Amino acid sequence: MDTKIIEIDSNNIEMSSINIAAKVLRNGGIVAFPTETVYGLGADTFNEDAVKKIFIAKGRPSDNPLISHIHDISQLNDLAIEVPDYTDKLTSKFWPGPLTLIFKKTPSVPDITTAGLDTVAVRMPSHPVALAFLKAAGVPVAAPSANISGRPSPTHPRDVIADLNGKIDVIIKSNKSEIGLESTVLDISGISPIVLRPGAVTLKQLSEALDMDIIYNKVSDNAEGSIPKSPGMKYKHYSPKAQLIMVIGDINNIVKMVIETANHNLSNGKTVGILSTIQTNSMYKDFDQVICLGDREKTKTISSSLFTSLRDMDNLDVDIIIAEGIIEDGLGIAIMNRLRKASDVILDSNNTVQKY
Ligand code: TXA
Ligand code: MG
Repeated sequence: MDTKIIEIDSNNIEMSSINIAAKVLRNGGIVAFPTETVYGLGADTFNEDAVKKIFIAKGRPSDNPLISHIHDISQLNDLAIEVPDYTDKLTSKFWPGPLTLIFKKTPSVPDITTAGLDTVAVRMPSHPVALAFLKAAGVPVAAPSANISGRPSPTHPRDVIADLNGKIDVIIKSNKSEIGLESTVLDISGISPIVLRPGAVTLKQLSEALDMDIIYNKVSDNAEGSIPKSPGMKYKHYSPKAQLIMVIGDINNIVKMVIETANHNLSNGKTVGILSTIQTNSMYKDFDQVICLGDREKTKTISSSLFTSLRDMDNLDVDIIIAEGIIEDGLGIAIMNRLRKASDVILDSNNTVQKY
């Protein structure tokens, strides 16, 4: 298939180009588009055949439901029923933005979109190109991240092109995704709100908005064998091709163990890449392949570069990637969730070997 690549400047949105992409979508095609979290791969939520194309292009398991993207709150009526009274406490604060809400679904949302669940995930993204595209499309747009299933989510148009060129109708090429991690997923379809996936809208922000304690149970990050509430969370995810080892613990112990682990693998003839942070980067000057993720004190710098850096390491063709864990607080909870899911091995530098 010939994929049409349409470039759009987010500071000067060319509506005639947006309309070309929107028309393809309305006619049952699939279109990759930028959002502030990661790039999405969209189809008309109500068009079963179009949604099926997304699962095929991504190689996505059919039991993993999609998020429907809207540009206007009035579209919620077409998707959700039994909307809780407190919903506007969330939407008024966090929409448009990186928060996905799960509601009971209307009968018009097809089973393929929600993987047979009686609930639907909805998000209003804040990226100006996403909003313009959704408005022009005129229908809710079901969109997972625009990567081949299992690979790190795409935060740059080149990642979308690498994974999906030739497999989809259109790629809207714009700037790099600012946040770099997928949205927070909050299930409000049950008795009390539950975070299914941590993201840039933090637990503290949700707790404040709802005036109740909102927690995230990280044990569910890798709970194999259990029945996950969010089907997507049971799959190994965000994975580079190389083996990923994450080292957690106190910062000094982490650095020591990263160096030991790197040297051990190098002496076994493996090529090794290290994902450092500004605070630790100078400790790894003896190693060739080091990518600095960002500043431990400014976790936004780490979230926005994590997935691209995993892809960059693959492009360097290393056998082993060693990453440092960071403190699990605020955005750090989401970053560590993605690193855990991408890891083949987790080493606790304070303690014994473990995999959560
Ligand atoms: O930031 C994002 O959320 C990006 C951009 C494109 O909006 N999208 C994204 O989609 O990350 P995806 O498909 O890669 O992840 C959606 C997650 C999956 O873990 C899926 O299982 C969960 O949301 N999900 C979707 N619908 C659900 C539902 N009805 N109940 C529970 N979990 C649901
Ligand atoms: Mg995804």
